[in-house]
Parts: sequence; structure tokens; C-alpha cells
Amino acid sequence: MNEQFDLDAFVDDLRDAAKTPERTKAVRRLIEVAMSDSDLLAASIPDFGDDVVLFEDETVSIWYCHFHPGMSVPPHDHQMSAVIGVFRGQERNDFFEKDPGGTLRKSSEVVLGAGDVLSIGPSAVHSVSCISATPCNGIHVYLGELTQVERSLFDPETGQRLPFDDDNYNALMRPAP
Ligand SMILES: [Fe+2]
Repeated sequence: MNEQFDLDAFVDDLRDAAKTPERTKAVRRLIEVAMSDSDLLAASIPDFGDDVVLFEDETVSIWYCHFHPGMSVPPHDHQMSAVIGVFRGQERNDFFEKDPGGTLRKSSEVVLGAGDVLSIGPSAVHSVSCISATPCNGIHVYLGELTQVERSLFDPETGQRLPFDDDNYNALMRPAP
């Protein structure tokens, strides 16, 4: 009765999984198990209202992510493998490739709802749009020290590459197409 999802214990498990030889698979397996009861996560994890870094060291970065309804975060890379699990709301991930001229071209999209899990390779460029009427929340796990690597943002209109920082990120936020 009143079962709770223990976020701190989950972070500890993810940290352990990130140290194993098959770390991307091990992390994904943990996230799949957790997201299989997304209702429990949604009931147990508070709505922090913004992104929260739950843990980071040189092996792994674990984020609570919050996407606002009707908004798109700009195309960006991670420079490391990532596994995303969604437990509230719905988001559309648009993936991009760079044309020889340097402009961005959308190549595919993946819609994720509560319970869904997505693995992203280290060179992928994606944007995320919250397409539910309520915020979209997920646990994102990056296999490295995300805040310590040089990453890129891309202007959604021109495809221009910009350094990843808070000012550029906020300036490139757009209403979800
Ligand atoms: Fe991302």
C-alpha cells in the first residue's frame, strides 16, 4: 500500500550500472524496468518544474528533465551516449543530419509517452518538443560528465552551430512546431 518509488535508490543503481562493462545496456535495462511502472514514478517523483541534475561524475550524469507544454528546446548534441525514459506527458524528439553545406535537415522523429525509453548515440543531434497539454518529465542518463564537455546548439531556422550555453539555449527556445 502507498508504494513509493525511491529516486535516491534509483540514482544509486544507475551509478552502479554506469560502472559495468556493458554500461549503456545496463543503464537502459534499469530505466526500462522503472518506466514500466511510470504511474508509480509520476506519483512519487515531485514536479520540480525545471531540469534538475540528480548526480554527475566522470562516468555518468543523471538528470530529471522538465519540458514545458508547447515549447521546443533547440537542436543539440550530447557528445556521449544517452538513455531517456519518460514518465509524465508526451514529447517528440526530432533528429537532424547536417547537409554538406552545413544546414540542418530533419531526418526522423520519435514520439515518447509515459513508459517509453529511447537510446541516443553520441553524435546524434536532436530537439525535443513537449506535445502534451501537461509538462513532460523524464529521467535522462548520459554516459559521461555532461556539464564538462563542449557541446553544440543549432539555430532551428538557419542551422548555424553555436556553443552550448544557457544564454544560447534560452535564446533558441521556440514554440513547438
Ligand atoms: Fe538532449
